[in-house]
Amino acid sequence: MQLGEVPPSRMFDLSTKVYGGILPNCCYKLVRYYITELESKNETFSFLFLCGGKIKLKINSMNKIFNDDAISIMDKMIAKNYKVDLLITDPPYKITARGNGGNSGGMFQKKEVNNGKIFKTNDLEIEDWLPRFYNILKDNSHCYIMTNNKNITNYLKVIDTMYFNEDKKQKFHFIKNLIWVKDNKIMGQTYMSQFEYIIMLRKGEHKKINDCGTSDVLQFPNKKMKGEDGKTIHDTEKPIELMKVLIENSSNENDIVFEPFMGIGSTCIASLLSNRQYIGVELDENYYKISEERIKKAWEEKRKEKDLTQKTLFGDGM
Ligand SMILES: C[S@@+](CC[C@H](N)C(=O)[O-])C[C@H]1O[C@@H](n2cnc3c(N)ncnc32)[C@H](O)[C@@H]1O
Repeated sequence: MQLGEVPPSRMFDLSTKVYGGILPNCCYKLVRYYITELESKNETFSFLFLCGGKIKLKINSMNKIFNDDAISIMDKMIAKNYKVDLLITDPPYKITARGNGGNSGGMFQKKEVNNGKIFKTNDLEIEDWLPRFYNILKDNSHCYIMTNNKNITNYLKVIDTMYFNEDKKQKFHFIKNLIWVKDNKIMGQTYMSQFEYIIMLRKGEHKKINDCGTSDVLQFPNKKMKGEDGKTIHDTEKPIELMKVLIENSSNENDIVFEPFMGIGSTCIASLLSNRQYIGVELDENYYKISEERIKKAWEEKRKEKDLTQKTLFGDGM
């Protein structure tokens, strides 16, 4: 993303800091360190680096996570006509205790689940977020929606019948369902559940993915982070490696990836590891704080890796 394209402050009414400086080339490590420090602070910023009178580096960093309601953040983005390159989401969904009865254990034994709830807040319906997604996503881009057996029928019905303008020309186009195969199974009253759906949509023209050799069956272990008490931190945490496949196939470096229901931040981490920018939203304060910690750690690890592999910030020419 080019500096000056759209100042981040205009998007979210946040004060954007502009950093910059004139430094000798030998300071590249210092600059690298400085930028990564900024990146890990959860701050939108612009950075300009001059060397020998020329602009050598310009960064307009949009990486930002919000502890807020996704609907209200999306409305702010829409009001500022702010668009993203890729939308990947894992929305809060309803489940039934009956369909997953037996000895399923884990999240299905939680009290809220008996009311069709896994999270404190999952009262949103697809009708609340889908029109906003359409508005926020750039033309000719992809949108992925992760969901389960209980919700997919309704989701596909709404996706197929919901138009976003009066002449019924603007809608999401269904591309296909991908399957995420986990290595664990959940006991039910019929067959054991071992996969989840990822609905793939496009807005606008057809666009091929970056690696057409990717299978629509994606197999990644369903490993979840545990707290100090040994309990799972987030019941529906998604594997970072799975999210990376979707991100790297449907966006390019520096593109902006948006996850309005980020949980403990897996999509944001996958984005930063794939050299994309991210915007994430999570309503639950505890999950938000865990995301913040995880993202900070991921930036630190990335910095260490870069320090090892990068001789100079601008390549060998400097
Ligand atoms: C299915 S989980 C996402 C988990 C995520 N994929 C991960 O790997 O951690 C959905 C999340 O949406 C959050 N949520 C529910 N309502 C929300 C809202 N109105 N705005 C933002 N987040 C919300 C829930 O707290 C929950 O963490």
